[in-house]
Parts: sequence; structure tokens; C-alpha cells
Amino acid sequence: MAEEVILGYLQNHDEISDSGQFATDHGLDHSDVVNVIKSLHGFRYVDAQDIKRETDVLTEEGEKYAEQGSPEVQLFLAVPAEGSILKEELQKLVDPAVFKIGCSQAAKNKWVQMGNQISRKVQHVEDRIKDLLLQIRDGQEIDTGDKKSLKARKLIAVQTWKGYSVRKGPDYAPIRRRTATDLTREYLQGGDWRNIEFKEYNFSAKGPPPEGGHLHPLNKARITLFFFNLFSLFLYILNESYTLNFHTSNQIFKRHWDGISVEGIMYQSYVKERLKDIFRLMNFEEMPTNRYVESSFWNFDALFQPQQHPARDSHDTFFLKAPETTKQLPEDYVELVKRVHESGGYGSRGYGYDWKREEANKNLLRTHTTAISSRMLYAVAQLAKQQSFTPKRYFSIDRVFRNEAVDRTHLAEFHQIEGLVCDRGLTLGHLIGVLQDFFSRLGMDKLKFKPAYNPYTEPSMEIFSYHKGLGKWVEIGNSGMFRPEMLRPMGFSEDVNVIAWGLSLERPTMILYGIDNIRELFGHKVDLALVKRNPLCLIGIQ
Ligand code: PHE
Repeated sequence: MAEEVILGYLQNHDEISDSGQFATDHGLDHSDVVNVIKSLHGFRYVDAQDIKRETDVLTEEGEKYAEQGSPEVQLFLAVPAEGSILKEELQKLVDPAVFKIGCSQAAKNKWVQMGNQISRKVQHVEDRIKDLLLQIRDGQEIDTGDKKSLKARKLIAVQTWKGYSVRKGPDYAPIRRRTATDLTREYLQGGDWRNIEFKEYNFSAKGPPPEGGHLHPLNKARITLFFFNLFSLFLYILNESYTLNFHTSNQIFKRHWDGISVEGIMYQSYVKERLKDIFRLMNFEEMPTNRYVESSFWNFDALFQPQQHPARDSHDTFFLKAPETTKQLPEDYVELVKRVHESGGYGSRGYGYDWKREEANKNLLRTHTTAISSRMLYAVAQLAKQQSFTPKRYFSIDRVFRNEAVDRTHLAEFHQIEGLVCDRGLTLGHLIGVLQDFFSRLGMDKLKFKPAYNPYTEPSMEIFSYHKGLGKWVEIGNSGMFRPEMLRPMGFSEDVNVIAWGLSLERPTMILYGIDNIRELFGHKVDLALVKRNPLCLIGIQ
């Protein structure tokens, strides 16, 4: 409608000088007219020039006084013509805002005598303010001094009006031509393509944002590694044995680190992948974690976790209804595990209780990836029995399940990162060394250890890292040396030790992304838009 009117008008006239006036003259809505002009301008049917006008309009307060009179006049009229009125009495007669402004303005105008008693000084006043407001409302011009004072009293404000002046454009036509956007089969068959006008291709139009394939923050956080990574890569390539004397190798790295001015980031990737790289650079092999369902045996019993342990309660662990029990366990080994629980051995007294097979058979969703470690270590020990013992470095990063009340910092389902080294003659010093090495590669080189308890490790240590941003020590993981009660029944000889550690993947990722509610990171409440929007995160700079 507006389009026909505009194009039709321009057929006989040179110009629409003011789109606002034009809309009023033709009974059109100005915003419709503006939209049509923009579109016609885009297709070069018309040339449109912006026009701007600033007009004064009444504010809400101004409107009120234009109707009811200015506060000073309202106040003046409330004061009796003869005699005087108590201030408190007068206050009751007018509304509070009017009283306050009215008093000061009326006193300034010398209309009234202020004091406890208020009386008139003049008998007649004119409401200039109201008159000026009405003139503004009518679109009349008023004296600039008056305008200034109305503005100062916030009774009027400037409103910018935007419109267009319009002339014919280079592609003007009285009626918009229909242009085709696609070359269709029908156009080709009917030969219409010869006459049809095609819409020009807009090469600068933005395409729709690509929708697929966004990395979840857990996979996205980047780890920054500096020069010593290249160095360790070098070692790796040379196949230099990255000996278990981690203390020493750490010092080598440090020296290199100190001696070279670091120009920047040498190596970056995503958390999980980077963690895997770190482990691989340290010569660790990945354990197969593709089993969420585990038997209590591998999850607890093999780890010398007593059957009465509170973690084995259904309040802490998800047990399976179907299949409720495991089908197969290595019977000889089960017998040895039973014995070590009941009466010990290998220098241990055991727990001295009646170990029950039914308890070990119960299936559950694994509560930690250490269940995988116990299976893998058993396999290593079996191989050692058949052939010879080979030292191993293993790692895993995968999902675990706990029957926990979900809150800001706990999920019933999360990810664990786990590493272990199995070799002869390992000590707590080796554990500390390997932890220093591992965590410094994550950018956490200030570590503290605190004695802790795990049924399967002795000694056990909680790992803390100093977080510069938070200005405090943050617990980042758990570690220890697997107990002989766990390793010996598997078949390891006395001189073989295993050092191991575990941490959650969520904790560092939350710190890196500044997420304080774990439910925003993982689970059904994750905001998909967040997954798309959030940037890469650097680990390695604290
Ligand atoms: N399994 C422990 C946990 O769930 C972590 C751990 C792994 C502790 C290995 C010691 C050794 O927290």
C-alpha cells in the first residue's frame, strides 16, 4: 500500500521532501513509510536522504502541569485571598510534590510570604508555565530563555525525529518488478529465463551461523605448555628413557626453562587431548575405559576396600538391577583377595571379617577409574608370572558415577583423570616427583601435599595447588602408593610398587572457565548457547 503510494507519487513529482509530512498527507503510518523507503532505496528504485528534526515535547511531569496548572499556581490558589494559613494546613491541601516545588517557586516569584503562616503577597497571578507548556504541545516556538528554564525543570525534553526525503532512483519504476532469486526448472523449460530479471547476488550478505560441531568446555580448555615440552618431546623422539628419577629430569627441564627466554606459547591444545598428550609425552599408555558397568569386585574388593566400607552403600554407589551380578571373576585371584580381606598376609593382619562373595558379585556403575587400574594391574601381574615383569605407566580419562546429592560442586556423574606407574623400588619421592612433573605441565608448579587416607593406598596424599587468581591453595587431586594387600594377591613380587594419582576433569575446567556451578558445565542443565559461545581457555598461565 505505502509502496504503491510512494512510487505513484514520484511518477508525477520530483521529490517527497519530508516522509513525515507525506505520511500525514496520505493517511499512512510513518514507520510503514520508512520501511518501504529503506527497501526501495536498497533496490535503487529511490534515492533517500536522511532528515532529522529535533522537537521539544512535554515530559510526563510537563503533561501533568499542562492539564492541572503549574505547582506554584496550584499552591498560590490554595492560599486564602485574605489572612494566612498554617504551613501544615496548606500542606494538606495540595499533593506533596506540588507543595515542595510550589512553595519554592511561589516564594521565588514573590507571590507568597513564607513562614509558619503563609499568606499572599499579590492578589492575582498568571500561569505562564502552563501557557508555555501548552504552546510547546501545540508545536509553537517559544522564547529560548523560557525553553531553557522548562528544560532545567525537566518539564520538556528534546525528541529527535527521523525521516527521509526521497527522489527517483536509477532503477525507478512505478511498480516494483518481480525479480527471481532462483533459476528453476520451470523457468528453463518454459524459456522464461530469457526475460526474467534475476535478483543480484549479494556477496557481502552474511551466511547463517554454522550450527554443528561445538566443543564442550571440558574438551575445549587449552593447555599452554612452554619450552620444556619441546624438550620432553625431543627426549621422547630420541627414545631416551624418561627414567623414573623424575626429580632429576624435572631439574633438567627447569634448567632449560630458566636458561631460555620464553617467546611464547609453544604448544596448545584442548584439555582432554592435551592431558592425553602430556601423559603420552611422559610415556604413559592409555587404559581401555570403555566399561561403565563394573563388578564390586574390581571396583572395591580388589582394591582392598572392606565390604562394610560406607562407599559400598547404595547411598554412595549406584548398584545395577539388571544384570544384578557379574558373570565371571578370576576364581584363583578371588580366593586370594578373600583371604587378604579376612586374615591378611604379606605382613598384614587383614580386616578380620567374613568376606562374602555375593557382595563382590554385585554390579555397579564404577565409582572411580581406579577400577580400571585394578584390572590392568592384575593383567600386568599375570603377564609377569608367565613371562617377565615389565614396568608400566598407564593413564585414563573417563566417566565415573557416584550416588550423590547434586549441588553446585557435585555431580552424580563426572570425569576422572588417573595416572599410575608400576615399577620396582618406587618410593614416595618418585610419586612426588611424577606429580610435580605432571602438574607443572598443566601450569601448576606450586604443589603441597597433605597426608590422607584411601583403603588402597599407603601412604596417601591429597594434592593442593596454589591458585594465584583465587589467592589460595586449592585441592586438586588424590594420590598414593598402592598397598601390598592390593598388589601381592594380584601376583606382584614384593619389590614391585605402584604409585598412582587421580583428579577430576571438571574441577580445573570450572576454575579455568570461571564456572561456579558444576551443573552448568555437565549434565542436562547445560546451556547449549554457552557451549557455542565460550572461548578457548588457557591452562598454563596462572
Ligand atoms: N580413586 C581415587 C578417587 O576416587 C583417586 C586415587 C587414584 C587415589 C589413585 C589414589 C590413587 O578419588
